[in-house]
This record gives sequence, structure tokens and C-alpha cells, in this order.
Amino acid sequence: MNSRVVAGSRVDEEAQYEAGLRPRSLNEYIGQDRVRDNLEVSIAAARGRAEALDHVLLYGPPGLGKTTLAYVIGNEMGVAVRATAGPVIEKAGDLAAMLTNLQAHEILFIDEIHRMAPNIEEILYPAMEDYELDIVIGQGPSARSVKVPLPKFTLVGATTRAGLLTGPLRARFGIVHRLDFYQERDIHEIVRRSARILGVPIDEEAGCEIARRSRGTPRIANRLLRRVRDYAQVRADGTVTVEVARAALELLEVDEGGFDEVDRKLLRTIIDKFGGGPVGVNSLAAAISEERDAIEDIYEPFLIQAGFLDRTPRGRVATARAYQYFGLTAPGKDSRLW
Ligand code: ADE
Repeated sequence: MNSRVVAGSRVDEEAQYEAGLRPRSLNEYIGQDRVRDNLEVSIAAARGRAEALDHVLLYGPPGLGKTTLAYVIGNEMGVAVRATAGPVIEKAGDLAAMLTNLQAHEILFIDEIHRMAPNIEEILYPAMEDYELDIVIGQGPSARSVKVPLPKFTLVGATTRAGLLTGPLRARFGIVHRLDFYQERDIHEIVRRSARILGVPIDEEAGCEIARRSRGTPRIANRLLRRVRDYAQVRADGTVTVEVARAALELLEVDEGGFDEVDRKLLRTIIDKFGGGPVGVNSLAAAISEERDAIEDIYEPFLIQAGFLDRTPRGRVATARAYQYFGLTAPGKDSRLW
């Protein structure tokens, strides 16, 4: 379900736009102040000592800028970034080749690092810890292990959920940061910046409107901005006024809170089919025909932080705010069967 306009995940053809809008330095990077300040210190210190930066793990919901930050780090360190992704690395040799081709201090960026095969992940342990590749040559009794030295490099790993990382891998990252949903005013600033880069005339209030409906996610804000720009061009005179923004967003069925039909379906299903919950994530996934992983990684983080959904040990529960959103009254505890 990547076709939803408010999906946090990246749609293929979006990559080219994102590349143009992506901040290249920490100075240009808006929001995530704590992460930015910490990285600034780590980078300045590593540069001051002429060392490779310690390995960095970035985690958080999709669309918040993990890949962007990896490239910002590369730029600030003055080194190249070699990028790959967990599910793409099929053979141990693929990863070994990437590692041996790195130059000193360069960055190996592994997106979706939690989706690496275990036998491939194990290669990373000595590589990260001792800058060594352990290679087994031959088979059976004559097999022997050879250690190949690697340049001192930095691994930047990104994952939507740090909890899915194995303990040994997680332990090898010296710098770990969680990216949170952005404040609305930061998203507004990102919309202003993107509009400037894209050459879109946009009113202050229209920027606010887009920011409010972007679920605290820059990727969504930039996507909505492009769709609103299209609307302004075709149905108006090209300027994004607040009326134009509202009309465009209505046509896209993105409501005031940035919800789309998947969010509404998810909440309505919990309320209507499961009496408001608790409902296990597998039952919920089956009921709305979505993947369990998609619910956990993409849909529910925003609904939880916005206060519409609770994750309890017994399952997901629709909050009173979710009932209110649909104009319903939340059942009191007394009226429940449990
Ligand atoms: N575009 C996407 N994310 C951004 C950010 N955090 N700062 C500035 N521009 C962005």
C-alpha cells in the first residue's frame, strides 16, 4: 500500500525529487535538534582527531530522514557514502566486496539493516569491531580462516525498528539516535524551503495547512507540496494559496489530521469489529488486508504518537480520541464485557 499519499515509505519515482530537496549539511537540516547537535559534536571530534566516525545507528519511522542524515554525515566528514540495503545483500561475498572496496573513513550505509540474513550479519561483527574480514577458505578438515584487514570505515545503519536488531549488532554501534516525528513548525519550515527550491509560490497559511496534514514527516510534506503544486497549476494560477491547498488536499482525501483512508479503516475496524480492542496485530492485519509489518512500521507509529491508538500487552486499543474523531462516544469501562 505504498500508493497512499500519506505513506511514510518512499515511492520509487520519488527518489529523484528527494535527492534535490535533501539538505546536504547539518546547517541546512531542519528539526531533530537533539540528534543534530549530538552528531555535530561526534563529527567535529572525529574530524579533529583525523579518525573515522564511530558506527552510527539511526532508527525511527519511515520518511523522517535517516538516509538524508547518512549523506549529511558523509558530507560533513568529507567522505563518500556507499549505500546498500539489508534485503539487497544476497551473498556474503557481496558485503565482503563492498567492505574491501571502501577507502579509509568512508561510509557504508545499510538501509533496513534489520533485514540482513544472519550469516551476512555475522561478517559485520569483526568488520565493525576490529576492521577485519574473517574469511574461511576451503572446506572440511583443510578449511582455515584468514583475516583480511579493512580500512577504518564508518557503518551507518538505518532501521524502522531498533527492537528488531540482534543484540550483537546493536552493541557494535557507538552512536545510536532515534528520529522522532517532527514538530509542525519544523515541517512548515521544510515546506517553505522545498517550495523555494522547487520555485513554487506559496502563501504562509498554505504552508501551515500542508504542514498540519503531513504527520510530522518531511517525506509526506514534500509529496503533498508537489501534489498541491500540480493542483495550483491546473486548477488555479500556479500560486499555492490556502484555498488551493485545502481544495487539493480534499481531492487527495487527506483530512485535517493528515489521515487517509487506511488510517480510518484501521481505526474503524478496531472500533466496529473488535469493540474498540484490544485486538492482536495479526487479527488486525487480516481484518484490513495489510501486512503485519506494514502496520507496525508504517501505519501505527503515527496513530500512536497522535494519541488515536494505544499499544497494550493484550493488543491494540482505539482511544477515546479515535472515537471522537468519528463522532462516536467511547464506551466506558463499565459497559465493556471484560
Ligand atoms: N527535507 C527533508 N527533510 C529535511 C530536513 N530535515 N531538513 C531540511 N529539509 C529537508
